[in-house]
Amino acid sequence: MTALTATALAHPNIAFIKYWGNRDQVLRLPVNGSISMNLEGLFTRTRVSFDEDLDADILILNGQDVVGSALSRVSALLDQVRGMAGKKLFAQVESSNNFPMGAGIASSAAAFAALSLAASRALGLELHEAELSRLARLGSGSACRSIPGGFVEWQTGQGDADSFAVSIAPAEHWKLVDCVAVIETGHKPVGSTQGHALADSSPLQAARVANAGRRLNRCRNAILKRDFRALAEVVELDSNLMHAVMMTSTPPLFYWEPASVQLMKAIPAWRSEGLPMCYTLDAGANVHAICPAEAAGQVAEQLSRQPGVQQVLQATVGGPARVEDIS
Ligand code: PMV
Repeated sequence: MTALTATALAHPNIAFIKYWGNRDQVLRLPVNGSISMNLEGLFTRTRVSFDEDLDADILILNGQDVVGSALSRVSALLDQVRGMAGKKLFAQVESSNNFPMGAGIASSAAAFAALSLAASRALGLELHEAELSRLARLGSGSACRSIPGGFVEWQTGQGDADSFAVSIAPAEHWKLVDCVAVIETGHKPVGSTQGHALADSSPLQAARVANAGRRLNRCRNAILKRDFRALAEVVELDSNLMHAVMMTSTPPLFYWEPASVQLMKAIPAWRSEGLPMCYTLDAGANVHAICPAEAAGQVAEQLSRQPGVQQVLQATVGGPARVEDIS
């Protein structure tokens, strides 16, 4: 038998309204909905090859053989796909990113979105967008948002069946750019899977979650109306709320570095001087500066001059996860 192989590509996404905390850790059902934009130009490409000659799954990440928890997480997702397809073959998974991993550019989002698409197509499954999004969610919550294109909302849902992401506007709707000020490229000390489990230990989490619906509405409306000022306000508020929860959980999680804080002070000041931009940070020190495309050149240049900023990546709004090849 020849190997059943497919290659898929998915973009990471940056959350405007953050996902932090699960009501079900295994199914990764979030405590609140979230909104993000896919990042064009940054991607994970994953080739999955199911082969009857293999006696275990193999994971090759950026050219290196990987075992341990990363392989177990990939195998758990492959088990889901094998279950759906009724096949018992092991697979070789080769995955590469064109951006630094584990530093607040959600590499797991792009990785599990690309893996879900490649693995399901390799075994002959033609899953709908919602089914793919649910599958990707089992690997990494935010991965469900890297399946649809453009500006995406992940609905909390009642359970596994209706907790998936949908596009609220296509990539062409609004020419925004994420200028990522890379401050740190090493792996973060506490990954988001562990972080989600700590969220409830913060006394601030209940308040953050209670108000999430209002922030989701503000953010969705700002996107639909292309109202940058309104978007900037809610995006910064939501990022600060998530980090307030992180910093007050037990144990506390401090993802910011001094250079992150300097940028968080500078960006609103630059905005009030007329440069349209706002900041948001995921579980890492990097600062994502969101701005309209016309301002991106100036924003990137300004960021790159700041102390502690190693490089500035620029990403426009990205499309959906897509299959590149099936054989
Ligand atoms: O999908 P996870 O488990 O890597 O969680 C992502 C969490 C944040 O990036 C911090 C926020 C978000 O909504 O992307």
